[in-house]
Amino acid sequence: MARRNKIAVVGAGNIGGNIGLLCAERRLGDVVLYDIERVLGPTRGKALDINQLTAVRGLDSRLIGTSDFADAAGADVVIVTAGVPRKPGMSREDLVEVNLAIIRDVAEKVKTYTPDAFVIVISNPLDAMVYALHKLAGLADNMICGMAGVLDTSRFRFFVAEALDVSIEDVHAIVLGGHGDDMVPLTRLCSVGGVPLESLLPRDQLDAIVERTRKGGGELVQLYGTGSAYFAPAEAAVAMAESYLLDRKRVLPVAARLSGQYGIDGYFFGVPARIGAGGVEKVYEIELLPHEKAMLDKSFASVRSVVAACKL
Ligand code: APR
Repeated sequence: MARRNKIAVVGAGNIGGNIGLLCAERRLGDVVLYDIERVLGPTRGKALDINQLTAVRGLDSRLIGTSDFADAAGADVVIVTAGVPRKPGMSREDLVEVNLAIIRDVAEKVKTYTPDAFVIVISNPLDAMVYALHKLAGLADNMICGMAGVLDTSRFRFFVAEALDVSIEDVHAIVLGGHGDDMVPLTRLCSVGGVPLESLLPRDQLDAIVERTRKGGGELVQLYGTGSAYFAPAEAAVAMAESYLLDRKRVLPVAARLSGQYGIDGYFFGVPARIGAGGVEKVYEIELLPHEKAMLDKSFASVRSVVAACKL
């Protein structure tokens, strides 16, 4: 008998609440919003609030808010947002200690209740947190990845669409590497309706867009003042969940576990990958020019040092 998909959201804060809403709106399935006991009231409140919205929109998803992870058992997808967001002046790396402790707690629960789910990690510093959860929960390489590239490319695409006054739908972009200020937007491979981007914008303007993309998260942290971006990160993670649940086989930039691609082995790093019913089904390797490879190596060095700081 067919049944509705079940999506568990770990951490029902700003990003988690929006993920619940988007999953309902996209008719992806039922949603379990899980958070710690201390915020059980607001967690249940978010679920109830969204449930009441479904009447207006004619949606069938049902949400529950809970502090008991057993309610997530049998989930098809687990999206992990648990953690502390950045405050102005902080780097993602400043979050390592506090968020690693949270990921340890989440790993135990995932291992016990949802070992077969497709896991998407959002908590920062992203590349290290997805590495930690994969290792601590003992998940299969293809069943866990991190959300960063979809967000980073959507930021890049927005800035390009704005600069050229074109539909964002026709701006195609690719960002490789870690989810940090040395991520690698590959302008050589970006296009607007098939027209190479580098022929449409002068180098200095392109460089400014690359720089704004790299610092895109920080710009939002400054503007919000109390936390980090949440609408676009939620949408990005839901696009990845949708590709898995509907076996869309979209090719998206995600933090995937590499086994030799790009000269990297055993780390999670932002690369184009096909997401379908088999999870991370395939990683695509791009032939890079020397200066692009140098940028990628620099980004990987940062990821490796944050992973080393985790002392797993
Ligand atoms: N288990 C489950 N949830 C937890 C745990 C835990 N052990 N510890 C904390 N949380 C919850 C918090 O109670 C909070 O509701 O995680 C939620 C995080 O929500 P917000 O503080 O609103 O943060 P948000 O903006 O959603 O960002 C979450 O994503 O982009 C990253 O850097 C960001 O690491 C941060 C994460």
